[in-house]
Amino acid sequence: MIKHVVIAFLVLLCLPGSVLRAQKKISVETEHLQLLLSVNEKGKVFQSYLGEKLSQYNSVETGRHEAYVPAGTNNLFEPAISVMHTDGNPSLELLFAEEKKDKTDDNVTVTTVSLKDPKYPFEVLLHIAAYYREDIFKSWTEIKHQEKGPVTLYNFASSMLHFDAHKYWLTNFHGDWAEEMKMQEHELTSGIKILDTKLGTRAAMYQAPFFFVSLDEPATETHGALIAGTLAWTGNFRFAFEVDEQNSLRVIAGMNNYASQYKLLPGQVFETPAFIFTYSADGKGTASRNFHHWASTYGVLDGDTQRTVLLNNWEATGFDFNEEKLAGLFDNTKKLGADLFLLDDGWFANKYPRNDDHTGLGDWQENKTKLPNGIGHLVKTATGKNIKFGIWVEPEMVNPKSELYEKHPDWILKLPNREEDYFRNQLVLDLINPKVQDFVFGVLDNMLTANPGIAYIKWDCNRMITNGWSPYLKDNQSALYIEYTRSLYQVLKRLRAKYAHLPIMLCSGGGGRIDYGALPYFTEFWPSDDTDGFERVMIQWGYSYFFPSFTVANHVTSWGKQSLKFRTDVAMMGRLGYDINLDKFSDAEWQFSQQAVKDYKRLYPVISHGDLYRLISPYQENRAVLMYASKEKAVLFSYTLHSRYGESFELVKLQGLDPKKQYQLQEINLEKGRSSSLSGKVYGGDYLMKVGLPVTSRNELSSMVLEITAQ
Ligand code: DGJ
Repeated sequence: MIKHVVIAFLVLLCLPGSVLRAQKKISVETEHLQLLLSVNEKGKVFQSYLGEKLSQYNSVETGRHEAYVPAGTNNLFEPAISVMHTDGNPSLELLFAEEKKDKTDDNVTVTTVSLKDPKYPFEVLLHIAAYYREDIFKSWTEIKHQEKGPVTLYNFASSMLHFDAHKYWLTNFHGDWAEEMKMQEHELTSGIKILDTKLGTRAAMYQAPFFFVSLDEPATETHGALIAGTLAWTGNFRFAFEVDEQNSLRVIAGMNNYASQYKLLPGQVFETPAFIFTYSADGKGTASRNFHHWASTYGVLDGDTQRTVLLNNWEATGFDFNEEKLAGLFDNTKKLGADLFLLDDGWFANKYPRNDDHTGLGDWQENKTKLPNGIGHLVKTATGKNIKFGIWVEPEMVNPKSELYEKHPDWILKLPNREEDYFRNQLVLDLINPKVQDFVFGVLDNMLTANPGIAYIKWDCNRMITNGWSPYLKDNQSALYIEYTRSLYQVLKRLRAKYAHLPIMLCSGGGGRIDYGALPYFTEFWPSDDTDGFERVMIQWGYSYFFPSFTVANHVTSWGKQSLKFRTDVAMMGRLGYDINLDKFSDAEWQFSQQAVKDYKRLYPVISHGDLYRLISPYQENRAVLMYASKEKAVLFSYTLHSRYGESFELVKLQGLDPKKQYQLQEINLEKGRSSSLSGKVYGGDYLMKVGLPVTSRNELSSMVLEITAQ
C-alpha cells in the first residue's frame, strides 16, 4: 500500500501537470509569522521562508535549503536525520508524499508533511503546530518504517531551520549548581557550534536548553531580528548551529544522539520531542512575551490558577526537625499570611534514617523518631491551623545505604565491572524497568492515598547519570538516555491521570532540570538553590527569557547580605515563598513581610500574567529594572546592584503602558519609617514611556517596587 502511494506520486511528477504540483507551497502561519515550505520538481521539500508574515508568497523562490536534510546521499553538512537500513545502506532520500492540516482548536493548527524514501519503506512525518495568537511554532517528527528488521537511527532531529543573514549571534545560558542561567552571547562563525548535555537526569545543570539566534546584529530587547528556541525534553538535548561556505546557517534541534543509536523496529513509531520556537523582528522582549503567553495556556500545568505563597523549612532547619518544631513553623506560616507549609528533605527512612544526605534515600516511610505520628498527623495539624501542607520527595534516586538498595540491587543504573560512581552520595534508579516505574509512582500514590490532604509536592532530582547501564535494557544499552526520559514521562502521565491538578514543583538540586517537556506535569520550578538576592537578580533574569514569572519559585532566605527588603523585592518578581527562620524576625520584619505577602497576593494577576518588559539589563549596567504591565496596572522592580563612585543613573523609560492614560504611582515594600518621593504622583503613560522615572537609587544593593495604576 505504502509503495503504491509513493509510485502514484512519482508518476504524477512525470505528468505535464506536475509543474503545478512541483510548485506546491506549504504555508504555516500564526497571527504575525510565517514558515513557508516548497516542494520542488523532484519532490524535495525546502524551507523557503521564515519570518514576519508575507502579504503574498506565490513568488517566493524555493531556495536551496532542504527542510529536513537526510544523510548519506549528497548532503555535505550536519544532517537532520541519518539511518542505516536493514540491508546496510546508510542513506536516506526524503520526498514529499502528503500534506495534512489539523485544527486542534480555534488557535492551534498542526501541519503534517509526510516524507517518504522512494526506494525503502521509510517515512518521516514533519509536524509543525502553529499557535496563532501567541506566535509560537512547535515542530517535531515521527519516524517509522516497514523494513524487514530494525533500522538504526543515528541522528533524529526534531527540527531543522535555515537562515541567510549577514552575521549570526548566538545567546545561550549555562551554569552549574547555584549559578544557573548565566547568559552569554557570541558570533557564530563558519563551522559548527554544539550546545548539548550528556547528563541524562539532571540534564540542564551545565547547559540549559534555550537559545536565541540574532540575525545580522546582536538583538536588544526592542530591536533586531531573531529566533528564540527550546527543546521540550527532560533529558539529553543537542542544538547544532552550522554556518556553511555560503554563510547560510542551519539550526538543528533535538534529542542528543550521544551514546544513543536507536534500533527502530518495523511498525514502531519513533517520536521526537517538540522544538518550540518563535521569531521576532523587534528584539528579545517580544520573543519572551510570546513564550510567556504560550506557556500560560499550553506549556505549564494550570497556568491560570493562582500559585500559593509557601514557607519551606530547608534553609531554616535542614534535616534537623521534629513534630514540635514543625508545629511552630505551621504557626509561622499562618502568621506570615502564607498559604502552605512545605516540609523538605529528611522526614523519612528508619533502618538508615535520613539525617543527612548519605542515607535513607529510597525508603519512603516516615522516620519514627522525627515524626512518630506520621504525615497524617502533620496534615491534620496544618489543616487545623488553616494552612495547607506539602512535602518533598526524590523518588528516582537511592542511597547505597538504604533498604531499597539492599532489596533491589537490580533496580539501579550502574555499570557491571566498574565501581559505583556517586554524586551527592546517591545513585539513579533504573526507571526504564516497569517495576521501578510502579515503585516511583507508588511512592507518590501511596502517600497521597493515605494522606489526601497533601496539597503540594516538591519533586527533586539531585544527580545526573554517570556509569549509565540499565540492567533492564540488557543488550540494548544505547536506548538508555532516550528511554529514561520517556519512562519519566510515563510515570508523570500516570500520576497526572490520578492527580490532575495537585501543585508540584519541579526541582533538581536547584535548576538542573527545567524544560517544557516536564512543565506540562508541573505547576512551577525551583530555579536555583542560590537565593542570595544579588545572585538571584541575575538567575531570575536568565529564566525570564523563556518562562512566565509565576512558574519561577522564589524564596526569601538568609542567603546573601542584602536587606530583607531587597531579598523580598527579588522574590516577589516570581512565585513568592519563604525559607527562613522567622523566629528570628523583629517586629518590624514581621510587619514588613506580612504586608509584602498581602501586596503580592493583591498584585498577583499583573506580576504573574502581565507582559514582561526588561528595561535595564544587569548584563549592561550596575542595576536591573523590569516591569510587568497589564491594561490597568503595572508593577516595576528596580535594583541597584553596584554603583561606582559618583555614578548617576539615567531615568528609566517604561514600556507597555497606554500613552493616553494617566497613571498614579505608589511605592510598596517600604521599610518602616521610609517614605517615597514617587508615591502619589500622577503621570501620563506617554510621559512615562518617553521621558521616564528616577527609579534607581545610588545606594548599593537597594531596591524599589512601584505599583503603577491607570486612573
Ligand atoms: C536540593 C534542592 O534544590 C533543595 O531545595 C533541597 O530540597 C535539597 N535538595 C534537599 O535535599
